[in-house]
Amino acid sequence: MLEIESIDVAYGRAQVLFGLSMTVPPGSLTCVMGRNGVGKTTLLKAIMGVLPVRKGRITFDGHDVTRLKTYDRVRLGLGYAPQGHETFPQLTVWENLRVVLEASPKATKSSLDEALDVFPALRPFLRSKAGFLSGGQQQQLSMARTLITRPSMLLLDEPTEGIQPSVILEIEDSIERLHKETGVAVLLVEQYLDLALRLADNFVIIDAGEVVRAGDRTDLQDPAVRQLLTV
Ligand SMILES: Nc1ncnc2c1ncn2[C@@H]1O[C@H](COP(=O)(O)OP(=O)(O)O)[C@@H](O)[C@H]1O
Ligand SMILES: [Mg+2]
Repeated sequence: MLEIESIDVAYGRAQVLFGLSMTVPPGSLTCVMGRNGVGKTTLLKAIMGVLPVRKGRITFDGHDVTRLKTYDRVRLGLGYAPQGHETFPQLTVWENLRVVLEASPKATKSSLDEALDVFPALRPFLRSKAGFLSGGQQQQLSMARTLITRPSMLLLDEPTEGIQPSVILEIEDSIERLHKETGVAVLLVEQYLDLALRLADNFVIIDAGEVVRAGDRTDLQDPAVRQLLTV
């Protein structure tokens, strides 16, 4: 469904991804892991067209999207919840959702309701300003917003980063639910091996801008994998 072929990505003269290749099968939950600074966020930005690809190719659903604008990739079915759950803090939860609804040709009022069905914990806060929500609630809002465009693949960048342990389980739950109930494929950047072990069908581990290991859930048990993730 998503195929990344040997991409190079750089910030000016600082190259971050070096011939990185990976695939995400349709409907799967694929986990991208690796230590801080190895290029996970850079990879997601390249997939969304937020950063240009210098070499290589990205194919999504049979379309070569390598040079497409971000909004055209969204139209084809890619959804993206960036690292750090950026919401509009001055707007209410409801308004945060409405903004996406107004901006998306494909979205309807029912896509907003469906998004809230996946994240029912948001319902009591619809009239609260997003800035007053807890980190976990803001993360859920950020994920709910992406669902409004009805993506067929969702890119989630460290949704559990900086979130307290009790809420991490809630977020893990919602990711599992949205994956199972909507059938959306998920590309999840996640540092917690335990969470990956519970959710992932497949995984890749990135080190220094390259994929150094890829496999399915059972391969995650390999001690060598833990080795690649510890600092
Ligand atoms: N805007 C930027 N300009 C220059 N270098 C950057 C920028 N953003 C990230 N980097 C560098 O790119 C590398 C990969 O970053 P990133 O993709 O954010 O890593 P990860 O998400 O795996 O922690 C890091 O060395 C980081 O310092
Ligand atoms: Mg990152």
